Amino acid sequence: MTNVAVIGAQWGDEGKGKVVDVLAEKFGCVVRFQGGNNAGHSVHFGGQQFALHLLPSGIFCNQTHNLIGNGVVVDPSALIREIDELKERGIEVTPDRLKISNRAHLVLPYHRIIDQFRDASPNQRKIGTTGKGIGPTYEWKAARRGIRFCDTHDKDDFSEKVRTELDLAQRLNLGIVELQQLHLDALMAEVWPAIHRLQDYVVDGVEFLAGLVEKNVPILFEGAQATLLDIDFGTYPYVTSSNSCALGIGAGAGVPARAIDRVVGITKAYATRVGEGPFPTELLDDVGSALRKHGKEFGTTTGRPRRCGWLDLVALRYAQRLNGFDCLALMKLDILDSFERLYVCEAYRIDGRETRVFPASLQQLQNAEPVYRELPGWNEDTSTIRQFGQLPTAAQDYVKAIESYVGCSVDLVSVGPDREETLLRSDGLFSDLYKR
Ligand code: IMP
Repeated sequence: MTNVAVIGAQWGDEGKGKVVDVLAEKFGCVVRFQGGNNAGHSVHFGGQQFALHLLPSGIFCNQTHNLIGNGVVVDPSALIREIDELKERGIEVTPDRLKISNRAHLVLPYHRIIDQFRDASPNQRKIGTTGKGIGPTYEWKAARRGIRFCDTHDKDDFSEKVRTELDLAQRLNLGIVELQQLHLDALMAEVWPAIHRLQDYVVDGVEFLAGLVEKNVPILFEGAQATLLDIDFGTYPYVTSSNSCALGIGAGAGVPARAIDRVVGITKAYATRVGEGPFPTELLDDVGSALRKHGKEFGTTTGRPRRCGWLDLVALRYAQRLNGFDCLALMKLDILDSFERLYVCEAYRIDGRETRVFPASLQQLQNAEPVYRELPGWNEDTSTIRQFGQLPTAAQDYVKAIESYVGCSVDLVSVGPDREETLLRSDGLFSDLYKR
């Protein structure tokens, strides 16, 4: 049995969806372990394009179970919308195929209102959140006031819990008019039908996964967001509110650390970021615009244009140190096809000193000046190439430069959105997984 985790190595949107999409059918269960509907995974299935936010990507494979783990925060109405949209497009999400951990916390309307208000408020630090209520829900969880699926069996009991929390939210946020105007009855009318429908999906996540582990059923842990958005290790405070690197899997899925056999890291051949926060290699010039245009860099969840820049090897090596990637998947290499010259960041200059250490301090990160290595471009269409050895020499050298700096092999190179537009190293982990 091999349980595998797929983790974003940058600031998200690396193309995890494409990899998970292929891998999902090879696993008996796909597990989401953190985040919520702030995530947006694009998945191609049956000639159609889907954007998943809360549902794990194994939902399209008939043989695969899917678990929304305890570490995920679930907006019940958003999850029901996703289930219903899939149904309209011919995919039935039955309780047989989807399970929700009874320990998962609920995102409720007051969380969403607070999140949106704070991020739009001129006298608060703008994080550029997705506005889905993710941060406040994790705050409630840490404050030991959250409401979990196991608290939703009885409507009256649930309603009482919500009354207490809504009351507190209102008392703590007197300036949020929309929150002051939110009434318990309206809130219940919005969320209870969804919560009620979700009851059949709720299980004890620990028992469910332990049962699969005992039976040697292979499990795929599907990361959302990414390493540099991790609450502990990302560019704090410009991060999401969960552990979105591999270190979050045990706690967010409810499995022992030894249940994770392999960790694969996903990175783009360049870098992007949505929302605010430091981004040392960001390009605010025509090159950045060209990356955005060629790479179609617009958010799946919010539609926001993504900030674009050169590949940051300092950050990627840091991600490697944290996650212990067994290998990397390098996505969107084809987007670099038309660039004469390419640059990768090999060090930061901070206060006049060069370092290869990714700094913890926001101030240092904001002052970090990238030290670039220039590499020749290849000026050739790579999207039709299907074997690594057939890539232009300059493209192969680009990949090798990454491998040698990061200390990790690139076992998959993606040169387009379709499944076929993927090059696998014949002796690599992805090759093994894809052939299963
Ligand atoms: P939140 O997760 O909505 O609280 O947003 C916090 C930060 O994480 C913001 O900068 C978001 O843009 C970013 N973020 C959250 N989810 C994703 C994602 O799935 N992809 C990329 N960035 C994300």
